[in-house]
Amino acid sequence: MPNFISITNKIKNFKKTITVSGDKSISIRWVLFSSLANGKSKAKNLLISDDVLTAIRAIKKLGIKTDYKNEEYIIYGKGINGYKYKKNLVINAENSGTLGRLLLGLLINSKHTIKLIGDKSLSRRDFKRISDPLSKFGAKFKLNKNKNLPLTIKGTSNLNSIEYFENKGSAQCKSSVIFGGMRSNGTTYIRAKKSRNHTELLCKYLKLPVVIKKKRNYDEIKVTKVKSIKPFNYNIPSDISSSAFFIVLAVLLNKSEITIKNVNVNPSRTGVITILKKMGIKIILKNLRTYKGEKISDIYVKSPKIIKSINCPPKLNSGAIDEFLIIFLVAAKANGVSYFKDLSELNQKESPRLKWGAYILNQIGIKTYTTKDSIKIYGNSKLILKKKIIIKNYLKDHRVFMTSVIAALTFGGNWKIYDKDSIKTSFPNFLKIINRLKK
Ligand code: S3P
Repeated sequence: MPNFISITNKIKNFKKTITVSGDKSISIRWVLFSSLANGKSKAKNLLISDDVLTAIRAIKKLGIKTDYKNEEYIIYGKGINGYKYKKNLVINAENSGTLGRLLLGLLINSKHTIKLIGDKSLSRRDFKRISDPLSKFGAKFKLNKNKNLPLTIKGTSNLNSIEYFENKGSAQCKSSVIFGGMRSNGTTYIRAKKSRNHTELLCKYLKLPVVIKKKRNYDEIKVTKVKSIKPFNYNIPSDISSSAFFIVLAVLLNKSEITIKNVNVNPSRTGVITILKKMGIKIILKNLRTYKGEKISDIYVKSPKIIKSINCPPKLNSGAIDEFLIIFLVAAKANGVSYFKDLSELNQKESPRLKWGAYILNQIGIKTYTTKDSIKIYGNSKLILKKKIIIKNYLKDHRVFMTSVIAALTFGGNWKIYDKDSIKTSFPNFLKIINRLKK
């Protein structure tokens, strides 16, 4: 099977209801929390993708047993201090920044030196942002000279509590330090710029000693030592980041409507909805409900007649951080110039996404002006493509692949998009759902 996809035809208008796969952030957190619980936890609709399977492999290497029966994942947690640290242990986080960074917070009391490695994309990402705060607890790190992987961590059983200011809006850093605080003596104080709060909601649901005070621009989080975690079952909602590709597919077509069922619409994740609404798009959340502290709803979207350009307020960045590539496509079809700024974090993702966002837009004939943390997009509401476009060598960033597919299906042209396998990271069903919409 060739590892590329050729697209030469636009997709026809549709009116459909779909379901996308389970949320990646919640799936990985369920794996990690249940590995620390006392006994058997089960998850329905766990995302079965490489990132999550890598998390499962990691806890297995730490001595935790898992099973898969009747479409449910089962993890047999061994308690808060139940990990077994073998000599010369190497854990491969593959492509997953979330796994790599969160897990380090749980390894800070390891007795042995553990090596953390990753794939080519993860190995270029910044791990100093997490070894710095975790070192303050008392763990010892050795990083590759470029502040990244491979790294080694050697923990200690006598951990200090720390004070930490998370100023990038990184949920991975915040969550990892919460995990560190759960293992250390005393009270850890975190002041964190707003970012996705699935870890905090799980702590609240599990009644762990984690206290959160919400302030206007940041949260204050107090963490003390966790004695035990009860096993828990979880029915994982669908991922808004995966849904976003289909929301935008409907937006960029004419006379299309889509309903996406059972999506996690945690307000710290719905930046894409807020931004698209500001661009004049009608999106309705139906059947809004709460499950274990998480908001869930069906999302209904209809193709707009016109798309307005946007000067995107940076306070929306963190809630849409994984969706900017696909939002840039909407800006490409908007009337006028859109501006997105304070986005240096985008270049810290699986690929330098500000660069790749601009590259895709330039390929489709859209003018952009980028700096190291911003992009201006000169929209063209009448854009129709005829040319040949090849997308490759993008560090197998799953979201670059999926964004290119949506561009090909909506703007036309003759596309060859390499590294089709990249979707296995977060959304193995992506192309199957696209094919269903074609029928
Ligand atoms: C994630 C946090 C975000 C996001 C990533 C998943 C998480 O990363 O981009 O896809 O699950 O905590 P940062 O914490 O680096 O912003």
